[in-house]
Amino acid sequence: MGFSAGDASKGASLFKTRCAQCHTLGEGEGNKVGPNLHGLFGRKTGQVEGFSYTAANVNKGVVWGEETLFEYLENPKKYIPGTKMAFAGLKKEKDRNDLITHLKEATK
Ligand code: HEC
Repeated sequence: MGFSAGDASKGASLFKTRCAQCHTLGEGEGNKVGPNLHGLFGRKTGQVEGFSYTAANVNKGVVWGEETLFEYLENPKKYIPGTKMAFAGLKKEKDRNDLITHLKEATK
């Protein structure tokens, strides 16, 4: 089971309630507790300048995209053991589809 396009506006609300305390999406918006996610799609893990990642996040070495995010966001600590991202995960496929659909647009 993988990603399929969802509802971007529902994804935007999910981002606000579940991610925005730690991440920004716009260009040049800077890092918070987590790295700025602008330009995420097509980029390897752990590449945001000036952000202090764990080695686990850097060394994961995958390219972020629909499928890698779909798997990661279900259970970040399982996908990247040792990550310091304190987020339990979005268990519902629909939530992940909606959120990733929003991220694709909002990180451009
Ligand atoms: C409590 C703060 C927090 C929350 C909430 C959070 N994150 Fe994170 N996120 C982090 C931190 C810290 C890292 C860096 C992890 C590391 O270095 O191990 C990270 C890393 C990431 C990465 C990897 C970035 C890269 O450049 O490799 C992605 C993608 C990501 N988060 C997306 C999300 C999304 C989407 C949500 C909401 C569903 C979310 N995060 C919720 C703190 C958070």
